[in-house]
Amino acid sequence: MTIASVYADFAAREAHGVSPAYERLASAVTRDRELLTLLAVLPPAKRQPNLLFGVVRLLGGPVEDPAAFHDYTVANWPVIEAEMRTRATQTNEAGRCAVLLPVLTALPQPLALLEVGASAGLCLYPDRYAYRYGDHLVGSGDPVLACTATNMAPPTGLPQVVWRAGLDLNPLDVTDPADLAWLDALIWPEHTHRRARLRAAAAVVAADPPLLVRGDLVDDLPALAAQSPPDATLVVFHSSVLYHVPTPRRVTFAEVVRGLPGHWIANEAPDVLPYDTLPMPPGEELYNVLALDGTPLAWARPHGQAISWFA
Ligand SMILES: C[S@@+](CC[C@H](N)C(=O)[O-])C[C@H]1O[C@@H](n2cnc3c(N)ncnc32)[C@H](O)[C@@H]1O
Repeated sequence: MTIASVYADFAAREAHGVSPAYERLASAVTRDRELLTLLAVLPPAKRQPNLLFGVVRLLGGPVEDPAAFHDYTVANWPVIEAEMRTRATQTNEAGRCAVLLPVLTALPQPLALLEVGASAGLCLYPDRYAYRYGDHLVGSGDPVLACTATNMAPPTGLPQVVWRAGLDLNPLDVTDPADLAWLDALIWPEHTHRRARLRAAAAVVAADPPLLVRGDLVDDLPALAAQSPPDATLVVFHSSVLYHVPTPRRVTFAEVVRGLPGHWIANEAPDVLPYDTLPMPPGEELYNVLALDGTPLAWARPHGQAISWFA
């Protein structure tokens, strides 16, 4: 894909209907020769819209008006480029727990959760949040995660979690203001509800921090999994992580995780983690595929705002 087509795809499939500001910016970048030339100096994995827009937000630059964004980005390119080279998109969205919950609650309890690509670990607390599936409420915690559930009965309870651990190349610490500022900058401009959700989920994590290990999801997974308690069901899971990982490593990861005891929940885009057969997605927007032990179960919107069961 060309850089312009990456931004066009982001505008149409990720930002459209979700963030008018980022849809405007991404569309403008597709026609902006100067910005496309600057982005081309970066390695392909570092040219992503979310990374560019997040860095500009972190630095306090404008993201509402494409002309102001252009001027700011060109004028501050050396510092923006340096930040884009050292940072990665580490968006940590507790809302994704709403699409994991139906699978987690159906497994033998109690659970030992191991998230690869955990970022700050916000998705390791599905038992502490509350959920709203239409009129149906589950749990009484904070934040309340709203999710539109289609073709399924919503979960009736919460999982019992006795162990939680995360593996990440660069674990973030919710008690570190700089890490929290980066997590905040990664949230799209209009999403004040997600910003409030980040603060509430960060408070849950800070009160009872998980085991967060710096490491690679292939090389370091078996050793961390071996630390899980034997009398709980080990669940290795990941959400919007494998797009960071080169294709051959994704294959190796799947082999490693299949070799572990317990279960594997994947929540990834279908071009990143493909399956032999999938039904048509519910719409044109980007959907992840929720899968248990390699069997696809449902389409899920990337921030956990909707799930459509098809299994
Ligand atoms: C977009 S974030 C997703 C965070 C979290 N899973 C969620 O759903 O909110 C992806 C995370 O994967 C991590 N990551 C990327 N490649 C990795 C690897 N090879 N091993 C471990 N973590 C990795 C990144 O550092 C980042 O924190």
